[in-house]
Parts: sequence; C-alpha cells; structure tokens
Amino acid sequence: MARKPKTPRWLEAARRRKEPVPEGSRADWLVRALGRAGVMSRAEAEQALREGRVELDGHVERDPFAPVHSGSAVRVDGQPRALEARTLALMFHKPAGVVVHGSDPEGIGTVFERLRAVLTPELRGYEWYAVGRLDRDTTGLLLFTNEERLVAHATSPETHVSKRYVAEVEGQPSEESLQRLREGILLEDGPARPAGARLLAPSRVELVLTEGRHHQVKRMLAAVGHPVRTLHREAVGELLLDVPEGAWRLLTEAEVEQGLGFRAIPSAPAGKPR
Ligand code: URA
Repeated sequence: MARKPKTPRWLEAARRRKEPVPEGSRADWLVRALGRAGVMSRAEAEQALREGRVELDGHVERDPFAPVHSGSAVRVDGQPRALEARTLALMFHKPAGVVVHGSDPEGIGTVFERLRAVLTPELRGYEWYAVGRLDRDTTGLLLFTNEERLVAHATSPETHVSKRYVAEVEGQPSEESLQRLREGILLEDGPARPAGARLLAPSRVELVLTEGRHHQVKRMLAAVGHPVRTLHREAVGELLLDVPEGAWRLLTEAEVEQGLGFRAIPSAPAGKPR
C-alpha cells in the first residue's frame, strides 16, 4: 500500500495556527529566528521550547513555528534575548571523509560537527547552513552562513556564482576533451553549461562551473573519459580558500558583497528584548 506523504512540520504548524503570520520585515518562525540570531542552534532551541524555557510576548511558547516579527519580545531562561539577525558568513576548509548532511545515519561524521568543534563559543550558538554541497571525498572551500537567502543566492543557477575546482584525473586529457567541456557537454540530467577548463599538469584539470548539480565535476570529467581520482574546490565567486584544512575564518561584509555579489539587507530586528 502506498504510504501517505508526510506533511512537513512547518506546514502542520501553519495549519494549526489561527492567526496569520505577521507581515513585516524579517517575520520568521521562532526556532529559525533564534538560530539565525545566534541565541541557540535550531536543535537547542527546539529542546528549550519543549522544556518550556522560552517565552514569547509574555507567555511560555512551545511551538517552534510560532511567528515572530518586529516587536516580538523573547526571553530564554528568563533572560531577554534580541533576535537581531546579523548576516554572518565564513569559509571552512573541508577535509575529506565528512558528509555535508545534517543527518548521518551511518556515523561517518558531518561537516557541521567538524565546524562546530572548532568554532568559538559565541559562534556556536548560530544555526549554520552550508552553502551548497561537496561530496564526502571532496576537499576545499565550503562556505557557511546563518542567512538562508545567501545560500539561495550562491547556489541558484540563475546567479552564476562560479565554483573553481582542481581535479586529479585518470589519464591525460587532450585539448579536444577540454574543448568539449568548454563548449558544454550533455549529461544525463541535461546539458551542462560551458565550463572553464584547463590543464594544470598532465593529469590535473582546473574546471570552473557556474552551476552546481549533483556530482557535476565528476560526471563531466567521466563523460570525456577521465574519471576523477581526487577533487578539491579552490574558490567560490571571487573568494579564494586561504585557511588550512579543518580551519575556518569569518568573511567580512565586503568579501560577501564583492566576492559573492550578495548584499545583506540591513535587517530590522526580528524581535526585541523587553
Ligand atoms: N562536483 C562533484 O562531482 N563533486 C563535488 O563535491 C563538487 C562538485
């Protein structure tokens, strides 16, 4: 018998609520606003809500999807907490062997755990979203942010933010193979956009893509007869990886703006302490 599709929790919560989500700048769900503002990660916020430690506008709130907006007053453990959502972004040098997934049923280890382990305590409170994906065995530049709109911007095929990879491949790609990559080859899920492609050494190729489909570099190089042995991402937009493996650094606003073409809207607070 076909299983009934599970209704997402946010939709269930939205249906339960009688009043509409308030209009206004950066109206948001409570649990997400707490994570974005660095008060607590989403998992911690969900637990605090279950334990009745969060008050919204003077009453104990247990619904993670309660709407907050300019003027909401939030207290956690009795302390007023500002929900100002400063946009933060950081670069992390992903090592091989960790997955870019929130869940990890096989216990491989996630990039989120690796990052959290090296973040400063004040940054650990934020909900960090990975900007795109890298395969488990891929190393290199992975951006994180607390701003989902930055994720959408940098990963959208519309914005053409470039991603530069270096691949060690089997065999020695010919100029003809590189030319096929430059012209845009056909993959199973449709044509790949033309890519920058050049040979750095007999079996080392630099590829610059302006889209980010699943296993795209590996599929493109396999399609021209040169399966990837190792893959490393050096740059996203104008941002070049400049921290050692396993390390991170915050990006400045100018780097985010000039490097990724994303302008953080100065955010009106999603809530204010009382
Ligand atoms: N393309 C791939 O094939 N793998 C990655 O990790 C990134 C891009």
